Amino acid sequence: MSVLRIENVDKSYDDEPVLHDVSFEMERQQVEVIVGPSGSGKSTLLRCVNRLTEIDDGAIYLDGEEIHSVDENELRRRVGMVFQDFSLFSHLTARRNITLGLREVLGLSEERAEAKADDYLERVGLADQAESYPAELSGGQQQRVGIARALAMDPELILFDEPTSALDPELIGEVLGVMKDLADGGMTMLCVTHEMGFARSAASSITFLDEGRIVERGSPDQLFENPESDRTAAFLSDLHQ
Ligand SMILES: Nc1ncnc2c1ncn2[C@@H]1O[C@H](COP(=O)(O)OP(=O)(O)OP(=O)(O)O)[C@@H](O)[C@H]1O
Ligand SMILES: [Mg+2]
Repeated sequence: MSVLRIENVDKSYDDEPVLHDVSFEMERQQVEVIVGPSGSGKSTLLRCVNRLTEIDDGAIYLDGEEIHSVDENELRRRVGMVFQDFSLFSHLTARRNITLGLREVLGLSEERAEAKADDYLERVGLADQAESYPAELSGGQQQRVGIARALAMDPELILFDEPTSALDPELIGEVLGVMKDLADGGMTMLCVTHEMGFARSAASSITFLDEGRIVERGSPDQLFENPESDRTAAFLSDLHQ
């Protein structure tokens, strides 16, 4: 069964259409990369999946369950999200940023939550930064805390919205490295990113979204070597430069 099934989704903001008839499915362990110009609806699409935004028409299913029939807290636990701006709490240490959800959503004891947080910090290479506050961490380290926070909830799917685009170029690689490890480990990931090296090496398929519509979807090889649409070819060749 598909982990995620998006069926004929439409979404407008103030009568301005943003997503039109968007449909696709993701299987377990699949890595889907979404690319498209600014304003094409990429973030809106991700936000619809965990109901930060409501769709107008169509339906979205998580493991076969329509997302409106899933409790909102439960949905946010099952669908992790990693944001462009990290969205960490600045007054909490790296460890506390992770234990917060474990305690409040999963109801773990402080001791178990801390042990789990430390385990995930170690997985993203930050075992020695548990007591650091976000301001004491580099952008790349902050984003790795953001990824550890998402992972610690044992999600079925993680959404990434341009996770490296706020980073200095020299810090991008460490975050993409963690994402590649996750992909290799079988995590199901829906990623908005323009990092085409990552897409080529990790994506099961790439979706090109333009003006709220899926123009084309296919394997990295198909889209890079043999795109069906001129718009896809033009967009990808611009990205390469
Ligand atoms: N909360 C909102 N209220 C009104 N309009 C919105 C809202 N969020 C997004 N939009 C509009 O919807 C369209 C799609 O925005 P979205 O953020 O999904 O695009 P995007 O593909 O993620 O762009 P970018 O690459 O710049 O992040 C844009 O025209 C945007 O102005
Ligand atoms: Mg966006």
